[in-house]
Amino acid sequence: MELTGKKIVLGLSGGVACYKAAELCRGLTKEGASVQVVMTDAATHFITPVTMQALSGKSVFTDQWDPRVPNNMAHIDVTRDADAIVIAPCSADFIRKLAHGACDDLLSTLCVARPRHVPLLAAPAMNVEMWTNPATQRNVQQLREDGIHILGPAAGAQACGEVGMGRMLEPADMLEEIVAAFQPKVMAGKRILITAGPTFEPIDPVRGITNLSSGKMGYAVARAAREAGAEVTLISGPTALATPHGVHRVDVQTAQQMMDAVNQAITGQHVFIAVAAVADWRVANPSTQKVKKTEGGTPHIAFEQNPDILATIAARTTLAGHPYCVGFAAESENLLEYGAAKRERKGIPLLVGNIGHHTFGQDDNTIVLFDEQGHTILPRADKLTLARQLISEISKRINKHSLFQ
Ligand code: C5P
Repeated sequence: MELTGKKIVLGLSGGVACYKAAELCRGLTKEGASVQVVMTDAATHFITPVTMQALSGKSVFTDQWDPRVPNNMAHIDVTRDADAIVIAPCSADFIRKLAHGACDDLLSTLCVARPRHVPLLAAPAMNVEMWTNPATQRNVQQLREDGIHILGPAAGAQACGEVGMGRMLEPADMLEEIVAAFQPKVMAGKRILITAGPTFEPIDPVRGITNLSSGKMGYAVARAAREAGAEVTLISGPTALATPHGVHRVDVQTAQQMMDAVNQAITGQHVFIAVAAVADWRVANPSTQKVKKTEGGTPHIAFEQNPDILATIAARTTLAGHPYCVGFAAESENLLEYGAAKRERKGIPLLVGNIGHHTFGQDDNTIVLFDEQGHTILPRADKLTLARQLISEISKRINKHSLFQ
């Protein structure tokens, strides 16, 4: 329940993507938000207010002259206790209206009448030619300058049959963006590189050695970093997880591939967070053909050591203090003792300790932060909550470093 207690005005302007607004409305209410839907006349041609009323549990406003509000000023009343206004879909024409402060229907009027502290988020949805039209781009630029958050659009196949930029973001991505809008932007302007998931070390083309890491913690850290305003690159071993919206993901299998991908991406990164459960050893000579079962015999597998990605990057920390390196330790016992020792051994300022069988594959976790001052326990919570706390702790530490800026 990421939006408990939040009041969201969901405005629909005309476009085929109105069908996605129905799913978004459902998602918002499932996350605990109270949603007041407002539709333009054009939007009601694509989806009925009845559907939106059923999904939001509130009757929908479509008319500037709606007498239901006691003072007959829906454009004022609807926004006064709102936490955010989301226009989805936001048509080319509605973008034009926002850019010029038009007040010729209820939705445009309430946008102009909203208190300055209420964020306005707009999700453009239109044909590719309409989106790339210089007039639309001029208007979008004006919206950005006015502090309106533009969500998407995405590229792909369009309802009209053409292909290109202009699709409205998918409802799940919209939801992530709306949740993110409420998070403090403590990492604005920072670039953060994260490793996540297990690695997979091949024995032969069909077998390999891996571990129980699900990638959930690393992906939560990537999402939290993006929510905090960072530009995030996620280098991931094999997982079944969806990429957090707005995160650049690079897929790898082996520890060596992860090392190579990190080396490629590390220049210019302010923070490196190694969450991946990297295999310590790899098979020295993986077979190019499937190893056959032989009567009574077992294969002998020789191992060689993998590079320690975190220690390698930590050894390269510049005078300016970056990348600021953060490591994870999954122990099965003596966490406090082993965690503190591992932080020193890896040569990093901050290490996050957890108990392996309490975290692998779980949605919740308890973590301990080790730094030069000692340790701090972050009590059991879901991984996204812990990831947000961790990002906040990292931001406090890097902001103390005067050379870091
Ligand atoms: O030494 P250990 O594997 O316990 O250290 C865990 C930390 O080091 C994690 O942050 C992990 O991502 C990182 N690590 C790494 N490369 C390795 C082994 C661990 O980056 N080869």
